[in-house]
Amino acid sequence: MSRVIAVSNRVARPRGGSKSAGGLAVGVLAALKEHGGLWFGWNGRTVRGEPGDVTLEEDGRISYATIDLNEQAYELYYNGFSNTSLWPICHYLLGFFRYERREFDAYRRVNALFARKLLPLLQPDDLIWVHDYHLIPLASELRRAGARQPIGFYLHVPFPDIEVLRVLPVYRELLRSLCAYDVVGFQTPRDLRCFKEAIAERDIGGLERADRRNTRPAAPMHADAFPIGIDVDDCQALAMESGEQDNVRRMVRHLHGRQLLIGVDRLDYSKGLPDRFRAFARLLENYPAIRNHVSYLQIAPATRSGVRAYAEIRQELEQLAGKINGEFADIDWVPIRYLNRAFDRPTLMAFFREASVGLVTPLRDGMNLVAKEFIAAQDETDPGVLVLSQLAGAAEELTEAVLVNPYDVDGVADGVHRALSMPREERVERHASMLATLRRNDITAWRSRFVDALLAARQ
Ligand code: G6P
Repeated sequence: MSRVIAVSNRVARPRGGSKSAGGLAVGVLAALKEHGGLWFGWNGRTVRGEPGDVTLEEDGRISYATIDLNEQAYELYYNGFSNTSLWPICHYLLGFFRYERREFDAYRRVNALFARKLLPLLQPDDLIWVHDYHLIPLASELRRAGARQPIGFYLHVPFPDIEVLRVLPVYRELLRSLCAYDVVGFQTPRDLRCFKEAIAERDIGGLERADRRNTRPAAPMHADAFPIGIDVDDCQALAMESGEQDNVRRMVRHLHGRQLLIGVDRLDYSKGLPDRFRAFARLLENYPAIRNHVSYLQIAPATRSGVRAYAEIRQELEQLAGKINGEFADIDWVPIRYLNRAFDRPTLMAFFREASVGLVTPLRDGMNLVAKEFIAAQDETDPGVLVLSQLAGAAEELTEAVLVNPYDVDGVADGVHRALSMPREERVERHASMLATLRRNDITAWRSRFVDALLAARQ
């Protein structure tokens, strides 16, 4: 069996101590666990001078190969082009977009560095699976360095409409880089459509063919939608086993029988947290009878603190939470509990199982695995209800959730109210149907479909 080499900007190392695993880390880890493989990328450390050698660690069947990044390169490549140009573009949030040519140059240099460091670790029958927007030029760099293995790319974030993409001065170059892959995968059919429309532009298509002839006489690139799934049994088991943990019991005790609303998101402006807080306030305003009968727990560990917009959103949320609690709290009730810290997965799954409503209302999201985990963690005989943004990839599959437009504060408030008062029979029915969808397209299906496509590329 071929070895899978997963490559991503950041690697969730076994002893890295990081609790805040976002969608990418959860997905890659689950996909490698089954058959083993190698995970290559940045170790999370920056150094002054040139990065040193690759560090190798083993954990069960997974090997981890990681490198340091130079401080300045990291600033320009990661905080700069990746997270201030590409991230906002992919999430249709142009107000946060900024472009600097030297940041794009650093982005290309870091991709070339990744290729140089990875190449000596490769074996002839490996399959290379590159993850996410930080590493779009990696296939061209690997080919230039002599790699002959099949190389696939998976985009965890949305692929924007061409009219949005055009805002990025170097969008053509990125499209050509994508065309150097053998397989290109997206979260949803909508993303795939946007990609196809973008590469249909005459100048991209022409160059695509020329580029590929220069690199190797390959079969045509295969582009498809591979919606990422979760390990349903694992989430269920964690949710059931962890209910007796001390922090779960303390959380439940402090509900005093109130219905729990829960949100778990990285502290990212794309997650729509200020609008969600406002929608919660609107719920208390529009439906005064539920005051003191609900408790909203928002868990939001900080990320990307080197990017200004992330520091700003943190401040905004602190102010909003304070304002809403100041306005609505009672001597025996605090409406919002806002925690700026990470919890481990077992605790989160147990929290989900206790909740009446899961709030997943991003302004735009590639998939959103929290939505899927929330469903998997529920008690099938008395499940909570998912209130889900129409603009998250997960909404294309989880059609029995209460779907809302995250920008519509009154609409979200109404959706939450509907979820809180939904009869048990309807909750059970909707949940069963969504659980079946999650089982049909779980993490194993995602991995196998992508790896099969890479194997087919080798033929
Ligand atoms: C989340 C997103 C991924 C992204 C990752 C990067 O998981 O869903 O698309 O690649 O964050 O995280 P980082 O903390 O390294 O910026």
